[in-house]
Amino acid sequence: MRLANKRVIITGGNRGIGRAITELFAAEGAKIALLVRSDVSPFIQELTDKGCTVLAIKTDITDYEQVKQAVDSVVQLWGGLDILVNNAAVISREGVLEMTLKAWHHVMNVNVNAAFYCSKAVIGYLSEQKSGTILNISSVAAKCGDITAAPAYGTSKGALTTLTRSLARQLAPYNVRVNAIAPHAIVTEMSAQWSDEKRKQVVSAIPLGRMGRVEEVANTALFLASDEALFITGETININGGYLMD
Ligand SMILES: NC(=O)c1ccc[n+]([C@@H]2O[C@H](COP(=O)([O-])OP(=O)(O)OC[C@H]3O[C@@H](n4cnc5c(N)ncnc54)[C@H](O)[C@@H]3O)[C@@H](O)[C@H]2O)c1
Repeated sequence: MRLANKRVIITGGNRGIGRAITELFAAEGAKIALLVRSDVSPFIQELTDKGCTVLAIKTDITDYEQVKQAVDSVVQLWGGLDILVNNAAVISREGVLEMTLKAWHHVMNVNVNAAFYCSKAVIGYLSEQKSGTILNISSVAAKCGDITAAPAYGTSKGALTTLTRSLARQLAPYNVRVNAIAPHAIVTEMSAQWSDEKRKQVVSAIPLGRMGRVEEVANTALFLASDEALFITGETININGGYLMD
């Protein structure tokens, strides 16, 4: 097992890409705590029935005190922490002309501030034990912007990519690695909101000619979180079927 006994926190790991990461990491032997905003007991039960060690902590990840409390309780329960996956995010669809300041702040709060709060809450533990890794789920929008999402989305993901590099540099002396994944066009509830026209337009611009699967993102997350990637830090890996090659 590639993550045997690794202690993991994943934000919003109950559906979409986060769910696939949770399922794969659990199958690879990790103990997982999900920081979620709603009741996810059926999912937890499903994994527990398969013999996995998974729990959920209802947390408003945009509130640092709640995040700190959740992280501290996981560390107390399992005696430490090895991996944080900042997966939770929201998207806003208003164009730049209609977008409200409230929507802007909400996207930035969930996609950037919460990722920083979770990172800050775990960094003390990881740096002290001189091992561990943080994985941020960014987006191709970090690099190209997005024509249909509000500008806050791409901006937030750009910030996450830069946060990845900054933390990677500052935590390298403590043997803590920080990486990101930049997916594009993955089949989830988030992309299910797209119109048929947008879906066709998106697929026609992808050299591999299809949308991506959540399992494909989870496989890359597993690689980056595992000991196979011990010499990789500050990296953002594209998963986009060749849409953007940089
Ligand atoms: N699906 C894609 O094509 C795509 C492309 C690029 C990047 N991404 C990124 O991948 C990640 C997962 O996206 P997805 O497509 O699975 O989306 P999704 O909407 O299916 O899942 C998002 C998750 O975030 C959680 N979440 C949102 N706000 C939260 C909050 N305040 N507190 C706790 N949890 C919260 C949701 O409950 C959900 O579990 C996101 O970071 C997203 O930006 C997705």
